[in-house]
Amino acid sequence: MLAKETNELLCRVGPGTEMGDLMRQYWVPALRSDELATPDSAPVRVRLLGENLIAFRVTSGRVGLIGNHCPHRGASLFYGRNEEEGLRCVYHGWKFDVGGSCVDMPSEPSDCNFKGKVKAVAYPCVERGGVVWTYMGPRQTPPPVPDLEANMDAQAQVYTVMRKCNYMQALEGDIDSAHFAFLHMGHITVDDTYDGNFIHYQIRERAPRYEVTDTEFGISYGAYRPTDNDDTYFWRIGNFLCPFYTQVPLGPLPLRRAVRAWVPMDDEHTMSFNMVAPSVAEIVPDPERLKKPGGIVGTTEMLPDTTDWYGRSRLKADIVNDHLLDRERAGRGESYTGLPGLVAEDHAVTESMGSICDRSQEHLGTSDVMIIRTRLRLIRAAQALRTTGEIPPGVDNPEVYRQRAGGVMLPRSANWFEATKSLRTGFAEHAGELASKR
Ligand code: FES
Ligand SMILES: [Fe+2]
Repeated sequence: MLAKETNELLCRVGPGTEMGDLMRQYWVPALRSDELATPDSAPVRVRLLGENLIAFRVTSGRVGLIGNHCPHRGASLFYGRNEEEGLRCVYHGWKFDVGGSCVDMPSEPSDCNFKGKVKAVAYPCVERGGVVWTYMGPRQTPPPVPDLEANMDAQAQVYTVMRKCNYMQALEGDIDSAHFAFLHMGHITVDDTYDGNFIHYQIRERAPRYEVTDTEFGISYGAYRPTDNDDTYFWRIGNFLCPFYTQVPLGPLPLRRAVRAWVPMDDEHTMSFNMVAPSVAEIVPDPERLKKPGGIVGTTEMLPDTTDWYGRSRLKADIVNDHLLDRERAGRGESYTGLPGLVAEDHAVTESMGSICDRSQEHLGTSDVMIIRTRLRLIRAAQALRTTGEIPPGVDNPEVYRQRAGGVMLPRSANWFEATKSLRTGFAEHAGELASKR
């Protein structure tokens, strides 16, 4: 439970808010590179941390991210003409480069030096792994972009999905290990699983115990369950990385290389950036984890993009159509929920909390310990930045983001965090350490 004021602090991300200031200390994924496919292509509306911005790719290939309103008299630069190395407002022809400088002002006499005094809001951008990153913070020289393995590999890929709710309740789903065995797998029984694999242990024990620890990058958790062997536990180890990244323990440590950014578009809309690099060794395909036909992944059918502020990366299963709920599907035992798959299930439960979850009404249990700690870490970091100027975790230390998540068997006597230090390290081959089964 959080007091209403504390919840406001946690959730509000616009300019001048505590959490908004915290987010602006970091580089932020703004959009996918392929949304600005070619030089001089159509500008794109981007909602980011409560600001309306226009993204455009200029002739040389560089990306600009500029305030929506033209600094002259406020027409939207979305209607702008993307011309040679700049975006020209169609109202009176003022033209801006990627840095926001006014480079042409044809509506003023040629001997007037006014254009040198006009600047549009513009945020610096870099591209990496298919993501356009931007820095919206106060520094003249931005900090480094975090070392996220899944965004730095030559074969890195990214896909985006918008969610119609506050970033924090969406993010909390990823660090909530307990929900997987209900929301996504409540229809699965132990008989549907193969003995000894990771899914088997999760279904057999739906109430794991937890360990949580503060780290340089945020928080790590380990959810542990007994196995068939009296000497070992099965651990699922996942991460929250400041200010809005998660690593979910899918598959065995250290094979999977993935990270998700829960980027606030504003207080009530979030864009998830799912960054994935190829696994370091083959992972057993999902269907082979269960004896049952069908799968839990289901459909991720998307609607075509529109040019609206909220028109990009929209899932077809939406709060306005009950996320395509079909109770007969649940009745047939094909899913727990009747929803069309894992992504729709996550959308349904988090969007149904309301745009901003009222945490003054919740009742947290022992399985919510990771969520409690993550909120606290963010709140304290935002307060420390506001009151003492303390730089939040990871801002100046890109190397702390070199992390992986996953499942692993450990001796019961082992310290889970120490014992997996090497396995959790990204940018490493891990020869000889690879887990053999999931
Ligand atoms: S409003 Fe943009 S040039 Fe006048
Ligand atoms: Fe989920």
